[in-house]
Amino acid sequence: MASKLKSTKELMVFLGKSMIAFLESMIFIIVPRPRKNVAGEIVLITGSGSGLGRFLALRFARLGSVLVLWDINKEGNEDTCRMVREAGATRVYAYTCDCSQKENIYRVAEQVKKEVGDVSILINNAGIVTGKSFLDCPDELIEKAFDVNFKAHLWTYKSFLPAMIANKHGHLVCISSLAGLTGVNKLADYCASKFAAFGFAESICIETIAQKLKGIKTTIVCPCFIKTGMFEGCSTAHPFLLPVLEPEYVADKIVDAILQEKIYLNLPKRISFLMFLKSILPVKVLVLLAEYMGALNVMDGFVSKNKKN
Ligand SMILES: NC(=O)c1ccc[n+]([C@@H]2O[C@H](COP(=O)([O-])OP(=O)(O)OC[C@H]3O[C@@H](n4cnc5c(N)ncnc54)[C@H](O)[C@@H]3O)[C@@H](O)[C@H]2O)c1
Repeated sequence: MASKLKSTKELMVFLGKSMIAFLESMIFIIVPRPRKNVAGEIVLITGSGSGLGRFLALRFARLGSVLVLWDINKEGNEDTCRMVREAGATRVYAYTCDCSQKENIYRVAEQVKKEVGDVSILINNAGIVTGKSFLDCPDELIEKAFDVNFKAHLWTYKSFLPAMIANKHGHLVCISSLAGLTGVNKLADYCASKFAAFGFAESICIETIAQKLKGIKTTIVCPCFIKTGMFEGCSTAHPFLLPVLEPEYVADKIVDAILQEKIYLNLPKRISFLMFLKSILPVKVLVLLAEYMGALNVMDGFVSKNKKN
């Protein structure tokens, strides 16, 4: 009897809290969520030497953040450094870091802690793509894709999360991809690494909730194609369904999601609906839909940035 009462009470508490949470999210559809202030926050962006990373750095510069820029490409990173200074950032620190190397990450992270301080917003953005059928992918490129797109996230979290926990203040941002939500032809290694990055970031988010760690936020971003040159030559059959996004637009949306402390950001939003369809439609219909959207041969025109690939 006592246990029946206890489980009824637990059910009522669960339903009551869920109702409040649901109403809160309904209110925020009408009323904009408050944005947090990131002036003075130490923001580390990996892969800041070009593309999305550079646009994110420019956004945070305008918001008054301290910037820590990591890239394997020294020249590109120095260009970003100059651009963010011109955009108004007063404290910018550029480091050459090969995010495919754990020891390199640990070494540069220690340097950052000594020279700049505790990172409070960590954006794991560096990424690479091979763009070949799986059996044509050389082993070393598959391993590299995992090292940069996923394993680097493990080592950066190990480096910066402890101080975030101690300070009860931090934000972990994972740049995954639509390819982290669904498989894509000729992107097996890339998709697997992006699924891994998503699963890891979501698990740590759940871990912080389970351990009642206050002040640690997570944002996981899954965009479709972006015009940065990473997927040069790729196109979708029906851009109204899956457009190739402008990097400025994507950077604006990501920064806004961080400021609002949103956990999930799918770009464009209709990706969430496509994922819902994926979970309910029969496989044959899904294949027809993928064919209609040109998703089966989306990589056909791909031109790799890395000529050695
Ligand atoms: N471009 C797209 O269509 C698209 C779509 C979805 C997700 N993404 C993701 O967005 C992120 C940014 O990509 P982007 O489009 O700006 O591409 P990009 O190639 O312009 O930028 C990637 C950056 O990562 C850096 N980088 C690569 N290897 C590195 C390493 N070992 N160590 C440190 N830095 C390294 C590169 O030098 C480059 O500056 C990536 O994670 C990518 O997977 C891109």
